[in-house]
Amino acid sequence: MGTPLHGSLASCQRRRRQLMRMAGEDAIVIVPSATERVRSRDTYFPYRQDSDLLYLTGFPEPDAVLALIPGRTHGEAILFCRERDPEREGWDGPRAGPEGAVEAFGVDDAYPITDLDDILPGLLEGRTRVYYHFGRDAEFDLKLIGWLNRVRAQVRSGAQPPHEFLELGHLLDEMRLFKDAGELKLMQRAADISIAAHQAAMRAARPGITEYQLQAELEYVFRLHDAVPAYGSIVGAGANACVLHYHSNAATARDGDLVLIDAGAEYRGYAADITRTFPVSGRFSAEQRALHDLVCDAQAAALAQARPGIAYEAGHEAAVTTLTEGLLRLGLLKGRLEKNITDGKYKRFYRHKTGHWLGLDVHDVGDYRLDGESRLLEPGMVFTIEPGLYIGADDTGVDPKWRGIGIRIEDDVAVTRDGHRVLTRALARSAEEIEEFIAASRAGEQAR
Ligand code: GLY
Ligand code: MN
Ligand code: MN
Repeated sequence: MGTPLHGSLASCQRRRRQLMRMAGEDAIVIVPSATERVRSRDTYFPYRQDSDLLYLTGFPEPDAVLALIPGRTHGEAILFCRERDPEREGWDGPRAGPEGAVEAFGVDDAYPITDLDDILPGLLEGRTRVYYHFGRDAEFDLKLIGWLNRVRAQVRSGAQPPHEFLELGHLLDEMRLFKDAGELKLMQRAADISIAAHQAAMRAARPGITEYQLQAELEYVFRLHDAVPAYGSIVGAGANACVLHYHSNAATARDGDLVLIDAGAEYRGYAADITRTFPVSGRFSAEQRALHDLVCDAQAAALAQARPGIAYEAGHEAAVTTLTEGLLRLGLLKGRLEKNITDGKYKRFYRHKTGHWLGLDVHDVGDYRLDGESRLLEPGMVFTIEPGLYIGADDTGVDPKWRGIGIRIEDDVAVTRDGHRVLTRALARSAEEIEEFIAASRAGEQAR
């Protein structure tokens, strides 16, 4: 409690006002908190607030609901939250309580969450439209239907129940897609912490180290800087790098292996998402190097498309073209470039898309296409560029020298007024940069 988890009180207030303007005078917006989830018996997963509620309030606690009621004279932003309870707080930590919430989070009014059932039907009454995320939390959906039915039951006494139900994401996802200066600062911080974490893992790498030990190096740095993993860290040595969402992180890295690390910090709610692939020995083999150079070229081709006015999809198309050209050059594909692209032959080695929006969620909200067309990039959008190549260990259709190599290079990019800024540029990326970084850190170790 005390201070909002991210951003400033003023930015949250500005966002609530903007959302209410967009929703209109006759609307009500309802945003519940994330629910606590049991991990095992009576222990819980670490709590993570719902991203929409974070964005609009910074409020960190479970059992809360934000209601925005534009134009309401007795307060437009109402938060329902847990009451203070010295006994429970002695076990679980401090709570803001309704009074504290008004003070610390700048809402107009706050009530105990236990009063929600009594108060919410009255807030719905007289509003025509309800903005809410239907289908995200089945239990809350049912509660909302119950409150609506309570208002409907009063129609003969003159009550006016809402009759339009709209997806909150239509308004809110569009707002969240464009990051303001404060958000970009937090995202740069998340990127900087993640860079330091990847550097620690590269420094620690040597033949015989396990994937979980490398994960420990990364996550130590996250916690050292008040961050947590934004998603399950992926540390894949050798052919494990070809498993896109590899998560067991249990194997040992052998001399000659590449290690693929896809890990990012979440700082004040904002995610970074970085992938680097490096040799545990410190030197790439000729084949590893050829594929790494190719993925690096594909990333550069995609990055060259990152500026306002260019279609989001152009980055993926540029990466696919570069990868396919390279695969033909290396003899991993045969035939003509266009045909390999239109027939999707490259998908044998490149199965995923080249990126995604990044923000409070690692795969952040926002439409990729508008009216059936790829949307154009605009300043304030942040996304990843993450081409890769994955040659299956049992792909007998390719020369054995290529088998079991998996490579991805992923950076985080913010679109600016005149181009872009790579938030993760300070981390060694090309094969030369990586070899130099590892060599320098080993020389430094010896000097000590
Ligand atoms: N780490 C998840 C992703 O790269 O999309
Ligand atoms: Mn990603
Ligand atoms: Mn990633």
